[in-house]
Amino acid sequence: MELWELIRYLHVLGLALFIGGQIMLVVAIVPVLRGQPEALMLGVARRFGIAIAVALAVVVGTGVAMASKFSLWEDETLQAKLAVLVLVLVLLGLHIASPRSRAISLSLVASSLVVVWLGVALTH
Ligand code: HEM
Repeated sequence: MELWELIRYLHVLGLALFIGGQIMLVVAIVPVLRGQPEALMLGVARRFGIAIAVALAVVVGTGVAMASKFSLWEDETLQAKLAVLVLVLVLLGLHIASPRSRAISLSLVASSLVVVWLGVALTH
């Protein structure tokens, strides 16, 4: 496997965890744990928080490497993607501060889906 294939693979793996984990929370984990002892949701949140931090570090590291290698910093789709990623990070901060706000949680999932969309648009 070539180095750039590996880097792209890690980017896709990281974004799969980042977005797939959020969808898994919305469709299965949160509905099942609603009404259960709070410690269960806290345990899931703590472990998923670590996983998503690793996933974000991987997508940012590999994304920066690819953007430099393929000279994409001037690309408007990449710039839009990074702007929405900043919004995702702000929402993540707000979500950590107010974990019970549904509006914040759903905005976080929605803006993450937009980042994936712009990532796909970037590659065609
Ligand atoms: C949560 C954050 C991110 C998500 C969800 C995401 C999503 C994606 C997706 C879906 C692709 C297409 C993968 C493919 O078809 O092989 C992609 C490719 C790419 N992303 Fe990201 N990305 C993220 C962060 C970043 C960051 C921070 C950068 C740069 C600073 C970046 C730069 C790139 C580049 C350069 C490509 C490849 C373009 C190409 O192959 O021509 N990404 N990303």
